[in-house]
Amino acid sequence: MGERIMFDPRAALPFFREEELAALEPRVKQIHQQIHARTGVGSDFLGWVDLPLTYNREELAAIKNAAAQIKEQAEVMVVAGIGGSYLGARAAIEMLTPYFCSGAGETGAYPQVIFAGHHLSGTYLQELLHYLEDKEFCLNVISKSGTTTETAVAFRFLRKLAEEKYGKKGAASRIYATTDRQKGALRRMAEEAGYQTFTIPEDVGGRYSVLSPVGLFPMAVAGLDIEQILAGAGEAYQACSVAEPALNAAYQYALLRNLFYQKGKLVELMVSYEPALHYFTEWWKQLFGESEGKEGKGLFPAAVNFTSDLHSLGQYLQDGRRIFFETVLQVLRSKSTLALPAEEENLDGLNYLAGRQVDELNAQALQGTLLAHQDGGVPVLVLRIPELSAYYFGYLVYFFEKACAMSGYLLGVNPFNQPGVEEYKQNLFALLGKAGYEERRQRILTRLDNLEHHHK
Ligand code: PA5
Repeated sequence: MGERIMFDPRAALPFFREEELAALEPRVKQIHQQIHARTGVGSDFLGWVDLPLTYNREELAAIKNAAAQIKEQAEVMVVAGIGGSYLGARAAIEMLTPYFCSGAGETGAYPQVIFAGHHLSGTYLQELLHYLEDKEFCLNVISKSGTTTETAVAFRFLRKLAEEKYGKKGAASRIYATTDRQKGALRRMAEEAGYQTFTIPEDVGGRYSVLSPVGLFPMAVAGLDIEQILAGAGEAYQACSVAEPALNAAYQYALLRNLFYQKGKLVELMVSYEPALHYFTEWWKQLFGESEGKEGKGLFPAAVNFTSDLHSLGQYLQDGRRIFFETVLQVLRSKSTLALPAEEENLDGLNYLAGRQVDELNAQALQGTLLAHQDGGVPVLVLRIPELSAYYFGYLVYFFEKACAMSGYLLGVNPFNQPGVEEYKQNLFALLGKAGYEERRQRILTRLDNLEHHHK
């Protein structure tokens, strides 16, 4: 058992009273029962709850075998996917691989993992195809529905390039599809072409799928220790399976964010002090935004990278409208021992810091900012993470998933659907002229026409 991640609400104490929390506790216990007995709304999407214990061992072995083969075969793996089929893997790889080399090994011993299909930029795709021309590559296309436009468009180009380079059969041996067990165009395509497939469990939705092959396969290819990721998630499962909020940090966090929301805070800012956490906060934004933002309700999840953003948003955060609270990701142990050298001339006046580690300065910046923002009327919650490792990545993922389910139910919404995303997807299909969307297309074109006239 590793050290646990600690949740510290002390810097938020002036902004709530213990009785306010206590009043919500019976509801938390009730929701806990609902989650574990799978009786709440959206309960057919609760497969993620037990995933750290029940994941398919055979598939995990297949993932590791495929990753080992790719390591021999390819310099690059392109992962095509969007939203829940993209952000988790990217978050892990950005958090756990070195800043200035592509693979997880010190010298880039693992294939570079590049992401595509997460937007519709033709320039990006064109440049990627050009980049791949003289590289040995393989592909992982990820889509639960198998019909997402961004992913399908990128995959068509990437597949064509692979087939031109390796022939149809050769390309098929380099393409891996992660999709639903039975349904969807991607499943049919994979079966017809003979791609190796990995399965997204039916009862696990996109944004809760990072601990399934959706996240684990690209992570394994990048050289991450996926067993450690699952071990960390397993530890978080134990820590977050207690009904009593006082003993369950994920529930305390969920309770407080709901309390702040009730008190008029509209935005939660996830704060990190390590650039490697940027995509983790992107993943977190999707998890909470898509789970809670519905029926006119929900905290808006936003993220800032300090100290960079203190030099752009710092003024507003200290002094602007008091509509947010912060959750700080504090990493306790760093990999770096880099200390500031002394200089005889001291022209930059930095000798008072000579011998101090850069990450110590970062830690002091965190403390100073926390107090300043508290003084400025901002409640600050802190999550203490022992270190950035595969184990704690898994722990954090599960911690936030469990907190999100609790938080969404406390808010009174179904945390597992995303009707708003469907709305955009259907408008795009209609505008692009997909069969079956003719009526919607007419409506949209009329509205666009009216907008155009209004502007003239
Ligand atoms: O969380 C979600 O459900 C979404 O973000 C989806 O993951 C995203 O839209 C991609 O969908 P799909 O995997 O079906 O291509």
